[in-house]
Amino acid sequence: MFENPRLLLDSSNPPEPGSITWRSPSNIAIVKYWGKYGLQLPRNPSFSFTLAAACTDTELSYTFRDDAHSAGINLDFFFHEAENEPFRVKTEAFLNSLLPVFPFLKQLSITINTGNSFPHSAGIASSASAMSALALCLCSLEDRLFGTLQDAALFEQKASFLARLGSGSACRSIFSHAAIWGETPAMAGSSNEYAVSAADLLHDTFKDFHDDILIVSTDEKSVSSRDGHALMEGNPYATARYTQARNRLDTLTEALKNGDLETFGKIAEDEALTLHALMMCSNPSYLLMQPSSLAIIEKVRNYRAETGHPVYFTLDAGPNVHLLYPGNIVHEVRDFIDQHLVQHCENEYVIQDWVGEGPEEI
Ligand code: PMV
Repeated sequence: MFENPRLLLDSSNPPEPGSITWRSPSNIAIVKYWGKYGLQLPRNPSFSFTLAAACTDTELSYTFRDDAHSAGINLDFFFHEAENEPFRVKTEAFLNSLLPVFPFLKQLSITINTGNSFPHSAGIASSASAMSALALCLCSLEDRLFGTLQDAALFEQKASFLARLGSGSACRSIFSHAAIWGETPAMAGSSNEYAVSAADLLHDTFKDFHDDILIVSTDEKSVSSRDGHALMEGNPYATARYTQARNRLDTLTEALKNGDLETFGKIAEDEALTLHALMMCSNPSYLLMQPSSLAIIEKVRNYRAETGHPVYFTLDAGPNVHLLYPGNIVHEVRDFIDQHLVQHCENEYVIQDWVGEGPEEI
């Protein structure tokens, strides 16, 4: 979609060495993307809040190398200041796959320095913040070298498209507050190729919104998201699931506009349990929830019934539990977490996060 063979540097006028840094957040899906086809295209539309505290900082440094006919990407890669060969190989393959979009990348020596504010592969979608940060660096680099992405909407669309190619859910992290990815009549301009902003949908209630992430375990997941998506292809409930997700997205968008917390919360929890039910009835079946995840879910439901406070949970593809609630009850909920939930977390680890302003260049 964004292929452009003209984006080549003139070796008689090479650019000065330079660097670009973006901080990009994770996101938490309320209607989940689970199941894909083709090149990272979603089987159903999804909605997420963009977070703030859980984020990745990525610095891309470059120097010109007079080697336009070289075969591919020249990359050094540091994760938390240490060379990381598995990440380097993955990123190099990703950048090579983007050469039709950014042919100039093979005229540069590239160094990437990156790090997360949270443990990777802990079910907090580190790929979403990492891939969105990298996509934003690449778009800024194109604009710096060629001046071709001055239009802010086009910049965001291209960054979202590239982030999607890296990791589907990453395409939603480009936007402040909230995003929708996948074609849906509920959102004009929505696309399977990139996400669009859903910030304008949100009632004020959802702009001051919290997501405290209860870290039940930081262990790497036993089944990756990539394998999980693939297992949807043989899942006997797949077709019904995709229809359900479309319907839930329609209902959710109305609830988001109206500030209807109860409908929002019901969809958030039903989606979390549906996601994990789909894993349990895949072939082979698998479980990513842990006893502590269930203990927290029980307590959250009891707390809500007893206090009437609108606190809801969701889960990503992992054991950690996200608590979603509006800002006006932050003190009550933090007390509840401290007194009743931290004991279920690994080393009492909780990431206090919230609906944020989106990525920033730093
Ligand atoms: O972006 P991926 O391929 O890692 O898939 C992640 C999917 C979920 O996080 C489980 C749901 C979602 O929509 O973010």
